[in-house]
Amino acid sequence: MNVLKNYWELGSRVADIVEHVLALPEPKLILPTGSTPLSLYKELVNRQLDWSTTTTFNLDEYVINPNHPQSYRSFMKKHLFDRINIYPNNCNFPDRNTQAYEDIIPEVDLCILGIGSNGHIAFNEPGSSFDSVTRVVDLDKQTIEDNSRFFDSIDDVPTQAITMGLKTIMKSKKIVLMANGEHKLNILNIAMNGEITESVPASILQKHKNVKVYYCD
Ligand code: GLP
Repeated sequence: MNVLKNYWELGSRVADIVEHVLALPEPKLILPTGSTPLSLYKELVNRQLDWSTTTTFNLDEYVINPNHPQSYRSFMKKHLFDRINIYPNNCNFPDRNTQAYEDIIPEVDLCILGIGSNGHIAFNEPGSSFDSVTRVVDLDKQTIEDNSRFFDSIDDVPTQAITMGLKTIMKSKKIVLMANGEHKLNILNIAMNGEITESVPASILQKHKNVKVYYCD
């Protein structure tokens, strides 16, 4: 695990990896939402990189109106896509046509992940099959509570989401897991050093050949 000095250092180190991938002819990335990648996205915007040949695939999306301010599509537009020269048609999000999404996700050059406090990656909640692909899921009580900080009230948090599966994520050539805050340290240790089990979805990453973990408290 790479331990960084602070949140901005975390964003900057992962931005270095993204910058490297963006130098490929037709880069393909899987991207996360949440509070953790915000310093990364800010840093990427500041670097004014060329995204014109890049294609992105977001990990997940709530079952929600895509124009809702808390949809992950709105989040990505606000923090990244509206601030870089990526073509909107090259920015892909899952929707109810889950099989079509699964079918277009290639072996991406880089997948960036956060981790939920219950060990979820994307919205693969504890108990998700290691063979899972893109699908509609019910959110855990814990996840709804965690994400209620982004909504006016807990009753406004969607109870369902569409997520890439664990098998989908594992196809990536390289995976970077970002975590920020001491409250993530315990689950991070369990996921990366404990038993590989579907009760801790992120533990599947131990089976991947090219995973790097970046943490700051
Ligand atoms: C959400 C997302 C995950 C993300 C997690 C952690 O539930 N679906 O992809 O990793 O939150 O979020 P945060 O970075 O805000 O702690």
